[in-house]
Amino acid sequence: MFEAVARYPPEALAQHDRRYRRWISERLRSGRAVGAIAEGPEGPCGSGVAWLREEQPRPGIPHRVVPYLMSIYVVPDQRGRGVGSAVTAWLVRWARARGFQRVVLHATRFGRPVYRRLGFERSWEMRLGGSSIPSAPIRRPLDSVPRSRPTRRRRRGRARGPASDASRRTLSESPRFDLE
Ligand SMILES: CC(C)(COP(=O)(O)OP(=O)(O)OC[C@H]1O[C@@H](n2cnc3c(N)ncnc32)[C@H](O)[C@@H]1OP(=O)(O)O)[C@@H](O)C(=O)NCCC(=O)NCCS
Repeated sequence: MFEAVARYPPEALAQHDRRYRRWISERLRSGRAVGAIAEGPEGPCGSGVAWLREEQPRPGIPHRVVPYLMSIYVVPDQRGRGVGSAVTAWLVRWARARGFQRVVLHATRFGRPVYRRLGFERSWEMRLGGSSIPSAPIRRPLDSVPRSRPTRRRRRGRARGPASDASRRTLSESPRFDLE
């Protein structure tokens, strides 16, 4: 995922892989995190994690633990088919079924339209000090397909081609993959 969203040096990614694997394994084993894997016809094609993160108590929020969705990733040639939406929706359902009213995430620019469509709202988290890692170029929905510049009409109302029919379908109707 990090390779897709920013230009990290390879050694930083390799080090992160090792650290993250250790960190997430402990949480998956102890039940502090759950993972969803989307299985396509050619094997796993997407995944995501909900981490039960502790937060300070707030008025009106019954749980001090708030599921934080992360590591949502879809292999490049399967993007734009609803896999990312289905993984996210599955994690949200998982959280709601356990009584968590609130779910949070930090969206990359690739994920923003997906999460917005699922009802996520922008919040006002702020930070001091940023990353010096340059962003990866935008490549979507399929990495290999160059996108034309948006026309004035698309900017106003988003002209919809055949993909819009697919996006109007409910996720459960999508026959292309299964979630475990
Ligand atoms: C962000 C990411 C997970 C989205 O995955 P995805 O499978 O392409 O997402 P979806 O297919 O659900 O939605 C993307 C597009 O497909 C369209 N779509 C096609 N079929 C669909 C269906 N059956 N259901 C919903 N959307 C569908 C959507 O309308 C959407 O189009 P738009 O965003 O251009 O308006 C993926 O791009 C990715 O892995 N990016 C790199 C890593 C990253 O940034 N992860 C997010 C971390 S927060």
